[in-house]
Amino acid sequence: MTKPDKLALLKAAAEARRQAVAPYSRFHVGAALLTAEGVVIPGANVESVSYGLTCCAERVALFRALTSGEREFLAIAVVAAVEGGPAPCGACRQLLAEYAPGAIVWTAHPDQLDQGREFSVADLLPAAFTGFKPDR
Ligand code: THU
Repeated sequence: MTKPDKLALLKAAAEARRQAVAPYSRFHVGAALLTAEGVVIPGANVESVSYGLTCCAERVALFRALTSGEREFLAIAVVAAVEGGPAPCGACRQLLAEYAPGAIVWTAHPDQLDQGREFSVADLLPAAFTGFKPDR
């Protein structure tokens, strides 16, 4: 189990942000997930002309990680040019609650990586829906 290096993960998210594909909002977001083995998996937002198809940086990183076989996550850093960094959207909160419930969430502005915010996934999505049993 690697101890999360907050600044290193925020730097990876800031680097990932450079690959955002956001021609409509021009709001560039980067994310970096840290696995229990210390692997860092980056992601950035990708937008569509059919706006609703847009995928946030957090989900791009999470889907990349999951489809690489990763299942245990210690932290996720998210960087965008808003004070304190971007608050993850509801869809990303749901997926984090399902697949990275124990992760620390760090957010920051790319020019102020040392002045960000920290959340738990439970802070972001209390009383999450995480499973069900089919009706008989
Ligand atoms: N976005 C993210 O990638 N992550 C967030 O935490 C907030 C929003 C993206 C989605 C869209 O491409 C743009 O930011 C504007 O909403």
